[in-house]
Amino acid sequence: MSTQIRSRVQLQVDGAQRSIDVDNRVSLLDALRRELNVTGPKKGCDQGQCGACTVLLDGRRVNSCLVLAAAAGGSTVTTVHGLAPDGELSPLQQAFVEHDGLQCGYCTPGQLCSAVGMLAEAGAGWPSLLAGDLTAPVELDEAEIRERMAGNLCRCGAYPGIVAAITESVGTR
Ligand code: FES
Ligand code: FES
Repeated sequence: MSTQIRSRVQLQVDGAQRSIDVDNRVSLLDALRRELNVTGPKKGCDQGQCGACTVLLDGRRVNSCLVLAAAAGGSTVTTVHGLAPDGELSPLQQAFVEHDGLQCGYCTPGQLCSAVGMLAEAGAGWPSLLAGDLTAPVELDEAEIRERMAGNLCRCGAYPGIVAAITESVGTR
């Protein structure tokens, strides 16, 4: 019986094609940080509870600590670095700065990636747990933003600034 425990994985990370040889048990988060030296995504809980490791996998937000790198082969990964590829802050990042939506910086990469993913989900009409009518258009008021960002924890309490920044970026403030 063959016991292959390593895989050659191709990933496009923040616009660059990368190739790694990884143990099949390694998470995408560890592959990014340890193998590829992409340290924007942070390891908080390593079990899907804090959101610090959030990246966009083929445009959808995921907790990278819960995804196996080997299973992500062939995908596009966008981390916080990819949100400002030329070093110029995106409007969302600028709004985080202006509204004091970041303090420690540890959860901020995940918060930003999650916000980008959340805005895309809302734009596609995906309902949240708050939705009464699952087919109604999504209105990103404060309660909706808080619900949709609930997977990302901020221990120091920058939530009001984070919500304000996202609110501004969707033009509802
Ligand atoms: S490190 Fe992945 S959710 Fe906390
Ligand atoms: S800004 Fe990161 S924990 Fe609060």
